[in-house]
Amino acid sequence: MSRDLLLAILDLARWAPSGDNTQPWRFEIVAPDRIAIHGFDTRTHVIYDFDGHASQMAHGALLETLRIAASTHALEASWSLRPGTPDSAPIYDVLLRAAPGLTPDPLAAVIRQRVVQRRPMRTTPLTAAQRRSLADAPGPGFTVQLFESTPQRLQVARLLWQNAGLRLTCPEAYPVHRDIIEWNARFSKDRIPDQAVGVDPMTAKLMHWVMQSWERVDFFNRYLLGTVAPRIQLDFLPALACAAHLLMRPGQALASPADYVRAGIALQRVWLTAATNGLYLQPEMTPVIFRWYVQAGRPISALPAINRGARSLAARFDALAGAEADAPFAFFCRVGNSSEPAARSIRKEVGELLIGS
Ligand SMILES: Cc1cc2nc3c(=O)[nH]c(=O)nc-3n(C[C@H](O)[C@H](O)[C@H](O)COP(=O)(O)O)c2cc1C
Repeated sequence: MSRDLLLAILDLARWAPSGDNTQPWRFEIVAPDRIAIHGFDTRTHVIYDFDGHASQMAHGALLETLRIAASTHALEASWSLRPGTPDSAPIYDVLLRAAPGLTPDPLAAVIRQRVVQRRPMRTTPLTAAQRRSLADAPGPGFTVQLFESTPQRLQVARLLWQNAGLRLTCPEAYPVHRDIIEWNARFSKDRIPDQAVGVDPMTAKLMHWVMQSWERVDFFNRYLLGTVAPRIQLDFLPALACAAHLLMRPGQALASPADYVRAGIALQRVWLTAATNGLYLQPEMTPVIFRWYVQAGRPISALPAINRGARSLAARFDALAGAEADAPFAFFCRVGNSSEPAARSIRKEVGELLIGS
């Protein structure tokens, strides 16, 4: 395979999603038929990366996108985790083999268009065909649970309201929120542009000012009902304004990093499948992540009220899903019809992601 062909495949694969658009990967072209993906994670400073698992899911999304992109050139891509590489810096060796007659994966057509929609969507119900296609999307090892009716969406809206209360008042989450938004931006190469966050321009201006310091955030939250406007705009209304919430549940506990990589493969298949069905999607991962902390018996915050709140949130989530407290959840999101978002995260150029020769 020529270097240009490998670069073209990587150029498409880099459109895979990652938490907060961190793009926790670098690419190394090792040989004409080999690419090494150098993964990393942000667990040391991002509470939402829960032991690197959100990054590992992004690695899975990238590997699956690479596989799908390669199929359009009649190439079969397979990967393996290089033994001995640390969990926090895994290397995935990707082998490309010519496979004459291989039909391109139909999901390839939407790799570039797939985008997160954080604003309210239409409540048009899913069609039976869309439901079936989403249920089949993750492949073996995962089941899909949908919350579609108005009472169910209202229950999710309450869950997300409670979740946002924790997210916005958790001091450990503040630096993450401060650093991931690119202000006054419609597109962002390495973060999330404020215009894709989902608040109106006035609230965005206020958020920008308030988020300059934790003291301002804390004061606003305590005395000026600072969490109300963002919670309504970012959580409550979008939770109602969609076709369905989708919970992807693994058949077995997610234990190793490779299990999370597989969950990432499945989530990207769900997201691309939604896109081929003309649906938009927004991950709603924080309740899954907070519940993981509760299951692991790990504190999220130095503030006891946050950890207590997380336990109550996890119990509410269990009740909603009809699940045991120790049941694993992999991915939670909402889907629906809407117009294309005007603002979005873009990506680092392939040249910026390349390491080595
Ligand atoms: C594992 C994972 C978790 C994510 N969690 C959230 C989330 O909780 N809320 C959200 O709005 N977006 C979430 N996202 C979406 C990313 O922020 C988004 O994919 C990234 O910023 C790139 O934007 P794009 O998908 O529009 O290209 C998540 C993505 C991944 C892969």
